[in-house]
Amino acid sequence: MSSADTHPSTPTPVPSPAALAEALARYRPLFGQVVDEWDGFIDSLCRPLGTCIWSRPGRCDGAVPAAVLAAQGVPSAPVPWLADAPGTALMLPPGFKAGQHWWYCAGLAHAQEAVSQLPVLALDLCPGQRVLDLCAAPGGKTAQIALALGNRGTVLANDFAMDRIAALQGNLDRLGVVNVTTSRCDGGNYPAAAGPFDRVLVDAPCSSEGTLRRNPGLVAKLGPERSTRMAGRQRALLRKAVQLCRPGGRIVYSTCTFAPEENELVVADILAEQDGRLKLLPAPAWADLPGFVGGPGITLWQGRTLPADLAGCLRVWPHANDSGGFFIAVLEKEAAAPGLPEPEPLALALDDEDAEWCIGLAAHYGIAEPIAAQFRAHRQTRRGLHLAARDHVPPAAPRPEGSGLFFHRTNIRPPKLTTAGALLLGPQATRQVLDLDAAAERDAYLRRQTLRPTPAQTAACGSGQVIVRHRGYALGVAVLHRSGELESLFPRKWSGCTAAV
Ligand SMILES: C[S@@+](CC[C@H](N)C(=O)[O-])C[C@H]1O[C@@H](n2cnc3c(N)ncnc32)[C@H](O)[C@@H]1O
Repeated sequence: MSSADTHPSTPTPVPSPAALAEALARYRPLFGQVVDEWDGFIDSLCRPLGTCIWSRPGRCDGAVPAAVLAAQGVPSAPVPWLADAPGTALMLPPGFKAGQHWWYCAGLAHAQEAVSQLPVLALDLCPGQRVLDLCAAPGGKTAQIALALGNRGTVLANDFAMDRIAALQGNLDRLGVVNVTTSRCDGGNYPAAAGPFDRVLVDAPCSSEGTLRRNPGLVAKLGPERSTRMAGRQRALLRKAVQLCRPGGRIVYSTCTFAPEENELVVADILAEQDGRLKLLPAPAWADLPGFVGGPGITLWQGRTLPADLAGCLRVWPHANDSGGFFIAVLEKEAAAPGLPEPEPLALALDDEDAEWCIGLAAHYGIAEPIAAQFRAHRQTRRGLHLAARDHVPPAAPRPEGSGLFFHRTNIRPPKLTTAGALLLGPQATRQVLDLDAAAERDAYLRRQTLRPTPAQTAACGSGQVIVRHRGYALGVAVLHRSGELESLFPRKWSGCTAAV
C-alpha cells in the first residue's frame, strides 16, 4: 500500500521560519503583487499539514469514515471547497496514518492531500468521456477520475516509474476500480496511436515546493536550477497532452510548486506554440468553490512579461486555505483543430476454460449475476484473470501494464479469489461469507493470525475459501479448515493496514 499520498517515511525536523524565508526568497517580489502576507506564507509552511481522506463513492457514504473516526476519538471535519469532489473529503489531524486502519484496507477511503484533489474537479468530467492521466502514480487522481466516470468507460493511467505504477495499481485494486488500464512510457513520447482523449491530465513531475509542510526535508533542495531542469520535461508532457486531446477537449496542467519556470512559463510557451488553437480557461470559471481562496497566475517574472490571460491560471498559496501549495491551468483545444484517428482496440480475451473459472467462482460464493455479464473478464497473464468495466476499451498501444482489476489467481491449487476481488465482489456474495464483527477478530485477521470462529459465525460456510467481512464490509479472503480454524490469506504486502485499529 502506498504511503506516497499520506506521509513521508522519515520524519525530518521542521525548518525555522528564517531558513524557509531564505530558501524561498526569490518569491518575495510576488508578495504585494499577486498575493499578500509574506509572514503568513512562511508561518504556514512551518505548520504540519492535516491528513485529508475521501470516502469511496459507491462503497460507503461519506458518513461512514466520519462515524468510525468519531468512535475512535479522532476529530474530522468536511472540507467545504471539496463538496463537489467525487467522495466526501474529511480533514483529520496532522500525522494521522489513514493507511493503518481497517476501513482503509477495506477500500472505504483514500488519503489524498486536499489541494491535490482540485485538478480532477477542473477536468469537468462526465461519464462516457475517454480520459488520459499522463503522470498518474501513485494514483490518487486516477482513482478520482475513474470514480467520477462511474467506474465505467476508459481511463488510461501512465507513469514513467515502474515501482510507482505498482503503487498506483495497489490503490486502484483496493478501491475496486475497473475502468483503468495502466502503462509505462515517457509521457512526452506517449504514442499518438492511443488518442484522441476528451480529457488529459498532466499532473507533472515538479520541484514539489508546495509539499514543504509534508516534506520539510525539501528545503535543502530548493532553487531555480532544479526548476529550470524540470521545465523541459514539463513542456514535452504538456505538448504531448495537447496532441492527444480531442478537438474541443480539455487539458489540465498541474504542479505542486511555486516556481513560475514550471508553471506559467511552461503554459505560456505551449500556448504560443499552438498559435490560437489552444485557449486558457480563466480560473474563476471553474474554481468557484465554496470558501476557497485562489490566487491569480503570474504575468511578470524576472523581467519577462507574459500575456495577460496567464492571470487566469490558478495559484493555491498555503496560507490562503491552510493547505499545500498548488498550480493549475485549464486549457481547451479549439473544436476546429485537427484531431487524431480513433485507436485500434486492445483484444481482451476470455477462453472457454477461463469462462468456467468465472462460473465456478460465482457458484462457490453464491453470486447471482454471472461475473462475465457484469464485467469484461479477461486473461492478461498466466497468473489469472482480470475484470474490467463492460465498456472499457483500452487501445492496443501503448503496451498495457495492467487492464482492470486482478481478481482470480488461477495458477495455484486451489485457485484463489484475490483480496481486491473479495472487496469488489464481496457485497454480492451469499455463501462462504464469514463475519468478524469484533474488533479483536478483525485485527487478528488483518495480522494474518489464525482464528477459531464460533459455529454461529460459520453457519453460512462450508470448509474451503471464504470472504471475510467486518460490519458488512468485505476485508479479504480466508480458508476455513475442517478443524474449524480460520486461516487468514490477507496479503503480507497490505500489512501496513494492521499497525493500528
Ligand atoms: C506529481 S507526481 C503524480 C501524482 C499523481 N498524479 C497522483 O495524483 O497520485 C508526478 C509523476 O510523474 C512521473 N513522471 C516523471 N517523469 C515522467 C515522464 N517523463 N512521463 C511520465 N511520467 C513521468 C513520476 O514518476 C511521478 O509519479
